Amino acid sequence: MYSLKINFEQKGLESVVLNEVKAGESLLEVLLDAGIELHHNCGAVCACSTCHLYVKQGMEFLEALSDKEEDFIDRAVSPRIESRLGCQCVIQEGTGSIEVTLPDQTQFLGE
Ligand code: FES
Repeated sequence: MYSLKINFEQKGLESVVLNEVKAGESLLEVLLDAGIELHHNCGAVCACSTCHLYVKQGMEFLEALSDKEEDFIDRAVSPRIESRLGCQCVIQEGTGSIEVTLPDQTQFLGE
């Protein structure tokens, strides 16, 4: 079980903390289930970069970065060392705290 803190780069949005986040789902799935918007234009198959987010804490609890994911991160807006694609970050079994920051979703079109 994890706690997940979500920060937003979009102005006016307050951080949200989700508790009791379970392993086995991707960060994208957890966010969407909680009603938090994160674009996912390719349908979560690692073929776009719209689900790009920053993992500030807890990277070790997430499925490892693949070469394919890295390629798409390079095409994201403002990639950083802590960049990941939300659909590829499947939460592994364990316990701890994860913290992410979502880029401003108003700068993208699509779902
Ligand atoms: S939704 Fe397209 S790569 Fe994640």
